[in-house]
Amino acid sequence: MKGIVLAGGAGSRLYPLTQVASKQLQPVYDKPMVYYPLTVLIASGIREICLISTQHDLPRFKQLFGDGTQWGISIDYREQEKPAGIAQAFLIADDFIGEEQVVLILGDNIFFGGDVFPRAISEFQGGATVFAYHVTDPERYGVVEFDRDGQAISLEEKPKQPRSNFAVPGVYIYDNGVVQIAREMKPSARGELEITDVNKEYLQRGKLRVVRMSRGTAWLDAGTSSSLHDASAYVQTIEKRQGMKLGCPEEAALHRGFLKIDDFEALVSKMPNCEYRDYLAGLAGEVRRVGLSAA
Ligand code: DAU
Repeated sequence: MKGIVLAGGAGSRLYPLTQVASKQLQPVYDKPMVYYPLTVLIASGIREICLISTQHDLPRFKQLFGDGTQWGISIDYREQEKPAGIAQAFLIADDFIGEEQVVLILGDNIFFGGDVFPRAISEFQGGATVFAYHVTDPERYGVVEFDRDGQAISLEEKPKQPRSNFAVPGVYIYDNGVVQIAREMKPSARGELEITDVNKEYLQRGKLRVVRMSRGTAWLDAGTSSSLHDASAYVQTIEKRQGMKLGCPEEAALHRGFLKIDDFEALVSKMPNCEYRDYLAGLAGEVRRVGLSAA
C-alpha cells in the first residue's frame, strides 16, 4: 500500500499567515501541521509516500522531509499546478501509485487516539474504505448517511441540508481502480475533481466500506486562525499531561521498525538542543531500558 499526503491549496482562510508558508507548514503547537498526517501514515505501516503540493511550497516540504531516508521511509514529491480537486491527486501521482493500493490523507487533517487507521489498512481487501465521524457542523464536509443496519446509503459534498451528522474525514483507502475512476471523472460545478464523487462511485458499485470512528478519537480542523489555535491548545494539553508527543514521525518510525534504535539515536544526536530532541532522547533511553513495546 502506498501513501499520498495532499498538501496544496491556497490556504486563503489563514491569510496573512499563508503569505510565506503554506497552511500545512503552520505550527500546530510544537511541530508543523503536516507532521500529524504524515505520522498517521507511518504509524499505519506505510513506507512509500508521495507528497503533493504547489510549485511555490514544494521546496519547503523538501527542506523539511528530504527523501525520507532519515526515518526509514521514502518520500517522493509531485506538483499540483492548480487546486483542481482532491481526486486529482490520483492523476498527479499515477506513476507513483503504479499497480498498488493507496491511502490518501489530507495535509490539514489532524487525528489523535485509537488505531482505526492502521486497523482499517491491515484489514483492507479492495474497493474503498472511508471513515465517518460525528460532528455538529456536517454541512462543512462530505456527509455520509446510514440506514438502520448501519449501511452507508448516501454521500454528499457539503450539503445545505445534511442527512446525518456523520462527516467523512480526509483519510481514504482505495484499491488500484481509483486511478481509472479519477481519469473518467468530470469536474463538479465548482470546477474540482471531488473526492466525494470517487466515493459515490465505489458506493454505487457496492464496494464502499465506511468505518465509524469512535468518540475516543479526535479529529481536529485547523482551517481557520481560531481552529488552528484550538488545535495547538489541544496538542499542548495532551502532551503536557502525558509527557508523550503526538504527531512525531521519528517515534512512529521507531515503533514500526522502520528505524533501528542505533539510527534513531544518531538522528537525535544531530538535532539542535530543544524540547523535541530531549523528548526523543528520553524515548531512546526508555527503549534501551525496557524495550519498544513498553515505551
Ligand atoms: O477535511 C475533510 C473534508 O475535506 C471532507 O469531508 C470533504 O469531503 C472534502 O471535500 C474536503 O473538504 P474541504 O472543504 O476541507 O476541502 P479543501 O478544499 O479545504 O481541501 C482540503 C485540503 O486539501 C486542503 O489542505 C488543501 C488540499 N487541497 C485541496 C484541493 C481542492 C489540495 O492540495 N489540492 C486541491 O486541489
